Amino acid sequence: MSVSLVHNAKRPFDVDVIRADFPILSRTVYGKPLVYLDSAASAQKPDCVIEAEGNVYRQSYANINRSAHALAGEATVAFDAARARIARFLNAKSSDEIVFVRGATEAINLVAHSFVAPILGAGDEILLTELEHHSNIVPWVMIAKEKGAKVVAVPIDEDGSVPLSGFAERISARTKFISIAHASNVLGTILPVAEIIALAHARGIPVLVDGCQMAPHGKIDVQALDADFYVFSGHKIYGPSGVGALYGKMAHLSKMPPYQGGGSMIDEVSFDRVTFADPPARFEAGTPAIAQAIALGVAIDYLNNLDWPGVHAHEADLLAYATDRLREVNSLRLFGQSQNRAAIIAFEMPGIHAHDLATIVDREGVAVRAGHHCAQPLMKRLGVHATARASFGIYNRRDEVDVLVSALRRAGELFK
Ligand code: ALA
Repeated sequence: MSVSLVHNAKRPFDVDVIRADFPILSRTVYGKPLVYLDSAASAQKPDCVIEAEGNVYRQSYANINRSAHALAGEATVAFDAARARIARFLNAKSSDEIVFVRGATEAINLVAHSFVAPILGAGDEILLTELEHHSNIVPWVMIAKEKGAKVVAVPIDEDGSVPLSGFAERISARTKFISIAHASNVLGTILPVAEIIALAHARGIPVLVDGCQMAPHGKIDVQALDADFYVFSGHKIYGPSGVGALYGKMAHLSKMPPYQGGGSMIDEVSFDRVTFADPPARFEAGTPAIAQAIALGVAIDYLNNLDWPGVHAHEADLLAYATDRLREVNSLRLFGQSQNRAAIIAFEMPGIHAHDLATIVDREGVAVRAGHHCAQPLMKRLGVHATARASFGIYNRRDEVDVLVSALRRAGELFK
């Protein structure tokens, strides 16, 4: 097999060495060095991922699980190897518990339709939290409407945390499913998911964890969490877009009907009867994102080879430094101050719309996201229509925070 999946032996964390792996970070924007603080929206890609995707097409591309020729065999082996890498990254019991999907959104829709809809009746409840991303709200509202059920949201505290007591108070005999973010894409809040799952399981309620904002910050252990389902998107963990993973306990997956019908997910087909393949194939109708999935396996190798204690220390330092420096900026209001947070900071400058703020700092080369961050219920709770948001990846440095702070000061001057 000529697609290389081996690279970068483990090395002590050094942000400058990491930066050298990401070619885009050396470009300029409006003549200024790029300061990329939008990794929560999508992370940049290291060379090994970019190369891996290109190499699939250069060397070993064919459709998988179908043809008997050499290229098809090589692509199938590499695709299966990527699935095994994801299983190890999540500490799943088996690769068969990993379903390739387009991303977390598709994974949540799949679980909503194939697992939750069949067990949901009129008057039942699905429990979420107030800080969820729309991808973890809309599919639930849609099936709740269809079934005459209800979505209930556990509120956040003033500091943006989601206390366990909120779950204990809202779980009832009607609660059929719980779906929660592992970390908030706006406030950075890391939820006590292991405790929430234990609480839910004590009452026989299955739990899905949306790991989009947690998976970029370290390995996940779905067995230790005892999560029923865990989802993430490849593009947020330094991998390609268009591919992600759904982990599901085999005890669930094996009982679930398919989400979509098509090629590659069947056992036998006639015009009046179809039988389905076992998981994960049952949930992977049609040709998947082959090269992207293989490159996602390489992104996971890249993550596995990082010095994680070093990364955690670096990200914690960046978060603390950025929080302190942003507090120095006159009138800036920061959102979310819970103890346990991922390196994400939402903020607003009263009198300046978040989009204007983002546009002004962009002219200084600084990329931040502005808007409702696909979390309108959370915006409502915070009493704003929009915020700006800086989100950090493994490649960001303190001096980039300084550039952001100077750019924000300039924005403040402009609107004086
Ligand atoms: N979920 C992504 C974000 O928070 C797109 O920006």
